[in-house]
Amino acid sequence: MPPPISVVEAYDQYFASRLYDKRYPQANSSTLAVVLDQIGRLGTKVLDIGCGNGRYAEALLKQSTATIVACDISREAIDELSSRYAGYVTSGRLRPVHGDLSVVAGSIDPDEKFDLAIMLFGVLGHIYSRTLRHETLASIRALLRPGGRIVVTVPNAARRFSRQQVAAKSLFTAGHLEAGDVLYERTSDGIVVKMYYHLYAIDEFVQELEQQGFRIVHVGAESFLPESAVVRSKLLRKLDGVLKTLLPLRYAYGFVAVAEVASEADASPRVPRPSAPGEVK
Ligand SMILES: C[S@@+](CC[C@H](N)C(=O)[O-])C[C@H]1O[C@@H](n2cnc3c(N)ncnc32)[C@H](O)[C@@H]1O
Repeated sequence: MPPPISVVEAYDQYFASRLYDKRYPQANSSTLAVVLDQIGRLGTKVLDIGCGNGRYAEALLKQSTATIVACDISREAIDELSSRYAGYVTSGRLRPVHGDLSVVAGSIDPDEKFDLAIMLFGVLGHIYSRTLRHETLASIRALLRPGGRIVVTVPNAARRFSRQQVAAKSLFTAGHLEAGDVLYERTSDGIVVKMYYHLYAIDEFVQELEQQGFRIVHVGAESFLPESAVVRSKLLRKLDGVLKTLLPLRYAYGFVAVAEVASEADASPRVPRPSAPGEVK
Protein backbone atom coordinates (compact mmCIF):
# COMPACT_ATOMS: atom_id res chain seq x y z
CA MET A 1 0.00 0.00 0.00
CA PRO A 2 1.56 3.40 -0.94
CA PRO A 3 1.90 6.09 1.78
CA PRO A 4 -1.38 8.03 2.08
CA ILE A 5 0.45 11.40 1.79
CA SER A 6 4.03 12.53 1.24
CA VAL A 7 5.55 13.21 4.67
CA VAL A 8 8.58 14.79 2.96
CA GLU A 9 6.41 17.35 1.12
CA ALA A 10 4.33 18.00 4.25
CA TYR A 11 7.40 18.74 6.39
CA ASP A 12 9.16 20.77 3.68
CA GLN A 13 6.05 22.96 3.65
CA TYR A 14 5.68 22.96 7.46
CA PHE A 15 9.28 24.21 7.98
CA ALA A 16 9.42 26.60 4.99
CA SER A 17 6.20 28.33 6.10
CA ARG A 18 7.72 28.92 9.59
CA LEU A 19 4.55 27.37 11.02
CA TYR A 20 6.66 24.71 12.78
CA ASP A 21 8.86 27.35 14.48
CA LYS A 22 5.77 29.29 15.57
CA ARG A 23 4.22 26.23 17.19
CA TYR A 24 7.42 24.68 18.59
CA PRO A 25 10.01 27.44 19.10
CA GLN A 26 12.16 25.43 21.50
CA ALA A 27 12.70 21.95 22.95
CA ASN A 28 10.32 20.54 25.56
CA SER A 29 12.43 21.05 28.69
CA SER A 30 11.32 17.86 30.44
CA THR A 31 12.12 15.67 27.41
CA LEU A 32 15.41 17.54 27.04
CA ALA A 33 16.24 16.76 30.68
CA VAL A 34 15.68 13.04 30.01
CA VAL A 35 18.06 13.16 27.02
CA LEU A 36 20.73 15.15 28.90
CA ASP A 37 20.52 12.66 31.76
CA GLN A 38 21.06 9.77 29.34
CA ILE A 39 24.03 11.52 27.69
CA GLY A 40 25.55 11.88 31.18
CA ARG A 41 25.12 8.15 31.82
CA LEU A 42 26.01 6.72 28.41
CA GLY A 43 28.36 8.97 26.47
CA THR A 44 28.28 11.75 23.95
CA LYS A 45 27.80 10.09 20.55
CA VAL A 46 24.20 10.94 19.68
CA LEU A 47 22.06 10.07 16.65
CA ASP A 48 19.10 12.46 16.26
CA ILE A 49 16.59 10.80 13.91
CA GLY A 50 13.97 13.14 12.44
CA CYS A 51 15.87 16.12 13.85
CA GLY A 52 13.70 18.69 12.07
CA ASN A 53 15.37 22.09 11.99
CA GLY A 54 17.17 21.30 15.22
CA ARG A 55 15.34 22.46 18.33
CA TYR A 56 16.74 19.50 20.32
CA ALA A 57 20.14 19.42 18.56
CA GLU A 58 20.64 23.11 19.40
CA ALA A 59 19.90 22.61 23.11
CA LEU A 60 22.09 19.48 23.31
CA LEU A 61 25.02 21.17 21.58
CA LYS A 62 24.78 24.11 23.97
CA GLN A 63 24.11 22.18 27.17
CA SER A 64 26.36 19.13 26.74
CA THR A 65 29.53 18.01 24.97
CA ALA A 66 27.55 15.75 22.63
CA THR A 67 28.58 15.20 19.02
CA ILE A 68 25.47 14.71 16.94
CA VAL A 69 24.64 13.03 13.66
CA ALA A 70 21.25 14.54 12.80
CA CYS A 71 19.15 13.15 9.97
CA ASP A 72 15.85 14.16 8.44
CA ILE A 73 14.03 13.29 5.22
CA SER A 74 12.98 16.94 4.78
CA ARG A 75 15.52 18.89 2.70
CA GLU A 76 14.09 22.14 4.10
CA ALA A 77 14.67 20.94 7.69
CA ILE A 78 18.27 19.87 7.02
CA ASP A 79 19.10 23.09 5.14
CA GLU A 80 17.74 25.18 8.04
CA LEU A 81 19.62 23.08 10.59
CA SER A 82 22.87 23.35 8.62
CA SER A 83 22.72 27.12 8.23
CA ARG A 84 21.47 27.88 11.77
CA TYR A 85 24.21 25.82 13.41
CA ALA A 86 26.97 26.21 10.80
CA GLY A 87 29.56 26.81 13.55
CA TYR A 88 28.90 23.40 15.09
CA VAL A 89 29.04 21.79 11.62
CA THR A 90 32.44 23.40 11.02
CA SER A 91 33.75 22.31 14.42
CA GLY A 92 32.64 18.73 13.72
CA ARG A 93 30.15 18.48 16.60
CA LEU A 94 27.13 18.41 14.27
CA ARG A 95 26.80 16.32 11.12
CA PRO A 96 23.54 16.95 9.26
CA VAL A 97 22.39 14.10 6.99
CA HIS A 98 19.59 14.53 4.48
CA GLY A 99 17.71 11.25 4.40
CA ASP A 100 16.54 8.38 6.55
CA LEU A 101 18.56 5.79 8.49
CA SER A 102 19.62 3.93 5.36
CA VAL A 103 21.45 7.12 4.28
CA VAL A 104 23.01 7.47 7.76
CA ALA A 105 24.12 3.82 7.74
CA GLY A 106 25.66 4.27 4.29
CA SER A 107 27.52 7.43 5.34
CA ILE A 108 29.33 6.16 8.44
CA ASP A 109 32.09 3.67 9.11
CA PRO A 110 30.44 0.20 9.53
CA ASP A 111 32.04 -0.05 13.00
CA GLU A 112 30.84 3.37 14.14
CA LYS A 113 28.22 2.99 16.88
CA PHE A 114 26.20 5.53 18.85
CA ASP A 115 25.76 5.78 22.63
CA LEU A 116 22.29 7.25 22.31
CA ALA A 117 19.61 7.59 19.63
CA ILE A 118 16.85 10.16 19.98
CA MET A 119 13.61 10.17 18.02
CA LEU A 120 11.64 13.03 19.48
CA PHE A 121 8.18 14.44 19.14
CA GLY A 122 6.37 11.83 17.15
CA VAL A 123 8.95 11.07 14.43
CA LEU A 124 8.20 7.33 14.72
CA GLY A 125 4.46 8.03 14.31
CA HIS A 126 5.12 9.89 11.05
CA ILE A 127 6.63 6.76 9.50
CA TYR A 128 4.24 4.78 7.33
CA SER A 129 3.73 1.76 7.52
CA ARG A 130 3.85 -0.45 10.63
CA THR A 131 6.40 -2.67 8.84
CA LEU A 132 8.61 0.33 8.12
CA ARG A 133 8.35 1.54 11.73
CA HIS A 134 9.52 -1.89 12.89
CA GLU A 135 12.39 -1.88 10.38
CA THR A 136 13.36 1.63 11.52
CA LEU A 137 13.58 0.55 15.18
CA ALA A 138 15.63 -2.50 14.17
CA SER A 139 18.00 -0.25 12.16
CA ILE A 140 18.40 2.07 15.16
CA ARG A 141 19.24 -0.90 17.35
CA ALA A 142 21.94 -1.96 14.87
CA LEU A 143 23.49 1.53 14.99
CA LEU A 144 23.73 1.57 18.81
CA ARG A 145 26.63 0.13 20.79
CA PRO A 146 25.92 -2.70 23.28
CA GLY A 147 24.24 -0.99 26.22
CA GLY A 148 23.28 1.97 24.02
CA ARG A 149 19.84 3.46 24.41
CA ILE A 150 17.03 5.19 22.56
CA VAL A 151 14.86 8.03 23.85
CA VAL A 152 11.69 8.02 21.77
CA THR A 153 8.37 9.82 22.07
CA VAL A 154 5.02 9.03 20.41
CA PRO A 155 1.48 10.53 20.43
CA ASN A 156 -1.13 8.95 22.71
CA ALA A 157 -4.15 7.69 20.73
CA ALA A 158 -6.38 8.18 23.76
CA ARG A 159 -5.66 11.95 23.78
CA ARG A 160 -5.04 12.97 20.17
CA PHE A 161 -7.14 13.58 17.05
CA SER A 162 -10.40 11.95 18.19
CA ARG A 163 -12.41 13.43 15.28
CA GLN A 164 -9.77 12.29 12.77
CA GLN A 165 -9.77 8.82 14.33
CA VAL A 166 -13.49 8.53 13.51
CA ALA A 167 -12.88 9.76 9.94
CA ALA A 168 -9.99 7.29 9.56
CA LYS A 169 -12.27 4.28 10.11
CA SER A 170 -13.64 4.33 6.54
CA LEU A 171 -10.12 4.84 5.11
CA PHE A 172 -8.97 1.83 7.15
CA THR A 173 -11.90 -0.27 5.86
CA ALA A 174 -11.06 0.78 2.29
CA GLY A 175 -7.44 -0.28 2.86
CA HIS A 176 -5.94 3.23 2.62
CA LEU A 177 -4.74 3.39 6.26
CA GLU A 178 -3.62 0.88 8.89
CA ALA A 179 -5.25 0.56 12.32
CA GLY A 180 -4.28 3.51 14.53
CA ASP A 181 -3.42 5.81 11.61
CA VAL A 182 -4.99 9.25 11.05
CA LEU A 183 -4.78 12.05 8.52
CA TYR A 184 -4.92 15.63 9.84
CA GLU A 185 -4.16 19.21 8.82
CA ARG A 186 -2.25 22.10 10.34
CA THR A 187 -3.45 25.52 9.21
CA SER A 188 -2.12 29.01 9.80
CA ASP A 189 -2.27 32.24 7.77
CA GLY A 190 -3.92 30.43 4.87
CA ILE A 191 -1.26 27.70 4.82
CA VAL A 192 -2.66 24.16 5.00
CA VAL A 193 -0.26 21.31 5.71
CA LYS A 194 -1.69 17.80 5.30
CA MET A 195 -0.15 15.27 7.68
CA TYR A 196 -0.10 11.51 8.34
CA TYR A 197 0.28 10.14 11.87
CA HIS A 198 0.18 6.78 13.59
CA LEU A 199 -1.21 7.17 17.14
CA TYR A 200 -0.08 4.78 19.86
CA ALA A 201 -1.59 2.89 22.77
CA ILE A 202 0.94 2.47 25.56
CA ASP A 203 1.05 -1.35 25.25
CA GLU A 204 1.66 -1.16 21.51
CA PHE A 205 4.52 1.31 22.04
CA VAL A 206 6.22 -0.90 24.61
CA GLN A 207 5.66 -4.05 22.54
CA GLU A 208 7.11 -2.48 19.38
CA LEU A 209 10.30 -1.55 21.22
CA GLU A 210 10.61 -4.97 22.87
CA GLN A 211 9.95 -6.84 19.63
CA GLN A 212 12.76 -4.92 17.95
CA GLY A 213 15.28 -5.91 20.63
CA PHE A 214 15.04 -3.15 23.22
CA ARG A 215 14.64 -3.50 26.98
CA ILE A 216 12.37 -0.83 28.46
CA VAL A 217 14.14 1.29 31.06
CA HIS A 218 11.44 3.90 31.59
CA VAL A 219 8.06 4.91 30.19
CA GLY A 220 6.51 8.22 31.15
CA ALA A 221 4.60 11.23 29.88
CA GLU A 222 6.18 13.50 27.28
CA SER A 223 3.62 16.07 28.47
CA PHE A 224 0.00 16.22 29.59
CA LEU A 225 -0.73 19.62 28.05
CA PRO A 226 -0.21 20.02 24.28
CA GLU A 227 3.44 20.31 23.24
CA SER A 228 2.83 23.69 21.58
CA ALA A 229 1.58 25.02 24.95
CA VAL A 230 4.40 23.70 27.13
CA VAL A 231 7.15 24.94 24.80
CA ARG A 232 5.64 28.44 24.51
CA SER A 233 4.46 29.25 28.05
CA LYS A 234 6.51 29.09 31.24
CA LEU A 235 3.34 28.97 33.31
CA LEU A 236 1.88 26.05 31.36
CA ARG A 237 5.24 24.29 31.57
CA LYS A 238 5.04 24.55 35.36
CA LEU A 239 1.43 23.35 35.36
CA ASP A 240 2.44 20.41 33.17
CA GLY A 241 5.11 19.50 35.73
CA VAL A 242 2.44 19.40 38.42
CA LEU A 243 0.09 17.33 36.24
CA LYS A 244 2.89 14.81 35.75
CA THR A 245 2.91 14.14 39.49
CA LEU A 246 -0.89 13.80 39.67
CA LEU A 247 -2.31 12.15 36.56
CA PRO A 248 -2.10 8.56 35.35
CA LEU A 249 0.01 7.95 32.26
CA ARG A 250 -3.00 7.03 30.14
CA TYR A 251 -4.02 10.73 30.05
CA ALA A 252 -0.64 11.88 28.67
CA TYR A 253 -0.55 13.89 25.43
CA GLY A 254 2.44 11.81 24.36
CA PHE A 255 4.59 9.04 25.81
CA VAL A 256 8.36 9.07 26.25
CA ALA A 257 10.33 5.84 26.53
CA VAL A 258 13.96 5.18 27.35
CA ALA A 259 14.96 1.73 26.08
CA GLU A 260 18.27 -0.11 26.00
CA VAL A 261 19.70 -2.50 23.42
CA ALA A 262 18.66 -5.83 24.91
CA SER A 263 21.20 -8.53 25.60
CA GLU A 264 20.44 -12.19 24.80
CA ALA A 265 19.36 -12.65 28.41
CA ASP A 266 16.66 -9.97 27.97
CA ALA A 267 15.26 -11.60 24.84
CA SER A 268 11.97 -12.87 26.35
CA PRO A 269 9.47 -9.96 26.48
CA ARG A 270 8.25 -8.98 29.92
CA VAL A 271 5.37 -6.84 31.10
CA PRO A 272 7.03 -3.50 31.90
CA ARG A 273 6.38 -1.61 35.09
CA PRO A 274 5.47 1.99 34.19
CA SER A 275 7.91 4.22 36.08
CA ALA A 276 6.80 6.52 38.87
CA PRO A 277 6.46 10.18 37.73
CA GLY A 278 9.90 11.63 37.08
CA GLU A 279 11.70 8.33 37.63
CA VAL A 280 14.31 7.48 35.01
CA LYS A 281 16.77 4.70 35.68
C1 LIG B 1 7.19 16.37 14.43
S1 LIG B 1 8.72 16.59 13.57
C2 LIG B 1 9.88 16.46 14.89
C3 LIG B 1 11.16 17.19 14.61
C4 LIG B 1 12.11 17.29 15.80
N1 LIG B 1 12.46 15.98 16.32
C5 LIG B 1 11.50 18.14 16.88
O1 LIG B 1 11.21 17.64 17.98
O2 LIG B 1 11.28 19.32 16.62
C6 LIG B 1 8.92 15.05 12.72
C7 LIG B 1 10.17 15.03 11.83
O3 LIG B 1 10.44 13.70 11.43
C8 LIG B 1 10.93 13.71 10.09
N2 LIG B 1 10.81 12.36 9.56
C9 LIG B 1 9.68 11.67 9.27
N3 LIG B 1 9.99 10.43 8.85
C10 LIG B 1 11.34 10.32 8.87
C11 LIG B 1 12.27 9.28 8.56
N4 LIG B 1 11.86 8.09 8.12
N5 LIG B 1 13.59 9.52 8.72
C12 LIG B 1 14.04 10.71 9.16
N6 LIG B 1 13.20 11.76 9.45
C13 LIG B 1 11.88 11.55 9.32
C14 LIG B 1 10.08 14.79 9.43
O4 LIG B 1 10.64 15.28 8.22
C15 LIG B 1 10.05 15.85 10.55
O5 LIG B 1 11.12 16.75 10.46
